[in-house]
Amino acid sequence: MKNGATTSTVQTMADVWDAYRDELDGVEDQVRKHLDSSVTLVNTVAAHILSSGGKRIRPLLLLLCARLCGYRDHEHHALGSLVEYIHTATLLHDDVVDDADLRRGRQTARKVWGNQVSILVGDYLYSKAICHIVGFHNQDINEVLSEACRKMAEGEVLQLYYNGNPQVTEAEYLRIVEYKTAGLIAAACRIGAIVSGAPADKQAALFRFGQYLGIAFQLADDTLDYAADGDRLGKSLGQDLRQGKTTLPLLHLLQHCPEQDRKMITDRMETRTLTDTDLLHIVALMQQFGSIAYAMARAREFVTAAVADLALFEDSPHKRALSVVADYMVIRDR
Ligand code: IPE
Ligand code: IPE
Ligand code: MG
Ligand code: MG
Repeated sequence: MKNGATTSTVQTMADVWDAYRDELDGVEDQVRKHLDSSVTLVNTVAAHILSSGGKRIRPLLLLLCARLCGYRDHEHHALGSLVEYIHTATLLHDDVVDDADLRRGRQTARKVWGNQVSILVGDYLYSKAICHIVGFHNQDINEVLSEACRKMAEGEVLQLYYNGNPQVTEAEYLRIVEYKTAGLIAAACRIGAIVSGAPADKQAALFRFGQYLGIAFQLADDTLDYAADGDRLGKSLGQDLRQGKTTLPLLHLLQHCPEQDRKMITDRMETRTLTDTDLLHIVALMQQFGSIAYAMARAREFVTAAVADLALFEDSPHKRALSVVADYMVIRDR
């Protein structure tokens, strides 16, 4: 954190980015440093996605949690970059699974180089991260990260299992979200605590903090898929419905809209024929029936639960920054 930043000066996400700029630059250096495959195509594809402006939320959380626990060294930069590699690997895979053409305002790697390359470079980034992580010789870190990766894969498979099913329950939906997204965010937070040598109760609290935050993060993502400014989001809107995913705003709408609209929506899901006009109509219905508001209110509940887990920690600028990041999870527009 920059000299002079205090609890009261960190108010907005812009303040957080600014106060931790040097730390995030440290993460960025590590991201670039590890991109050193002898196979040029690997570096080209990895650079395409890694240098396209991701928010770096997971490394940011890792370093904030480390600082919150009093960490004074610099290993968290490398650890943050490796968590970002794992995240990036999942995006390369996810864009194949979701048939996505756009990510971070650019053509997806699968669109430029094809599905095979996207999957294999994803595998490379994942393996590269593991190679470096085992070099830290920290069994707790190995365990928390491998567990997160297992859960992520299970979450993606569970989501696929429910694909095209408009009757998924909110509880099952939340299980998918917890597995596919919250696991890695929770792991990033816990690694911050582990690397600082924090006691078990603080590690557990930060893990739960990340878990709740991760759920809120995906709930917001699923709402943005309908309600965002597409240019700002850098991804195609309506992609979830096009791909047959019943996410929370849609789930709510299906429970509250008239039968005729429900039929239209399930038909578009089954036949994969959603037009831009259909999407506008569905978003209007979501506004009318409060589905966007409902999903965002649920997301805010998870943020509140997350912040409650910070009670164990004394007030500090780092704690303040973490609660600003927690709020950002649900007010973000990309
Ligand atoms: C996208 O994650 C995938 C989800 C879990 C919703 P981010 O929104 O963190 O993606 P980038 O890294 O900022 O592009
Ligand atoms: C997140 O879900 C997937 C991962 C955890 C990799 P989404 O499929 O909603 O993510 P985006 O919207 O494509 O970024
Ligand atoms: Mg996707
Ligand atoms: Mg999404």
